[in-house]
Amino acid sequence: MSTEQTQAIFENVYRGRQSALHHLAYMRTAKVLLAMDALLRAGVELRASRVLDYGFGAGTFFRHCPREASLFGVETDRQTVREVEAMLRDRGFENMDLRPIDISDWERHPLLQKQYDVILCSHVLEHMDRPVDLLSALGRCMAPGGKLVCLVPINEIVMNPHHVQTVDRAAVEGWTREAGMVLYDYRESDHTFYPFQPLFAHDSGWRHRVARGVSLGFGLLSAGVGREVWLRMSSFLGRALGLKPCQAVFVLTDASVSDDSDLRNDQEPLS
Ligand SMILES: C[S@@+](CC[C@H](N)C(=O)[O-])C[C@H]1O[C@@H](n2cnc3c(N)ncnc32)[C@H](O)[C@@H]1O
Repeated sequence: MSTEQTQAIFENVYRGRQSALHHLAYMRTAKVLLAMDALLRAGVELRASRVLDYGFGAGTFFRHCPREASLFGVETDRQTVREVEAMLRDRGFENMDLRPIDISDWERHPLLQKQYDVILCSHVLEHMDRPVDLLSALGRCMAPGGKLVCLVPINEIVMNPHHVQTVDRAAVEGWTREAGMVLYDYRESDHTFYPFQPLFAHDSGWRHRVARGVSLGFGLLSAGVGREVWLRMSSFLGRALGLKPCQAVFVLTDASVSDDSDLRNDQEPLS
């Protein structure tokens, strides 16, 4: 599938989908759960931070940030950018700078000329021909001591047609080396979702509709039990049933803050 076709999908997938139920879908919250877990483990305090979400999609991560944080973000669809901004203002967020980005010229975007304490790059790298270019660019945007948190799909049973990279730990280590950064944390998660992954490789049709139902069910369940219990339960159940993890989260730093970090790569989520 061409970059233009993929971009067209992105331009429609988040529009007009700002209800609380939309934001409860596991396709959105699974990423927030893992990102928040990684931030907690890295000792990051979001409250007074400048936070960039590169490719923020529906803006679900922002909803979980403290109101005091300064939020920055880029997304391709102008209408979605406006809708996410309105949603956040309704929820009491004031400090934000959200802007559209043109994929063909992403490297020159003005928000990539600034610095941030925390950068999130969730499910974007696997869409890129040269993911190292994005990691390097985001690395240059990190304030001293900053953290770059990335989420990627792993162990795809059916490869999503919009993905151009197959990601595993070796790939992440290679990208990190090439980008001249340090892998501070790497963790695989989301085992219980594994059998349902093929449903999510479809943009339309009955599988897509079933996927949306599954996503809402998982979303309600995980919100009901809370982040810590869900991550532990999902990992325990998944292993007991011999399922593979579907997502990985990794945290990159620049070389100057690497000394204290024995790579935090144990498999259990933080409790
Ligand atoms: C799969 S979506 C993930 C959205 C959101 N971060 C999440 O985790 O739900 C990838 C997003 O990255 C955005 N994006 C921005 N720049 C991009 C680039 N250079 N290549 C691919 N996707 C890009 C797309 O518009 C798309 O919404």
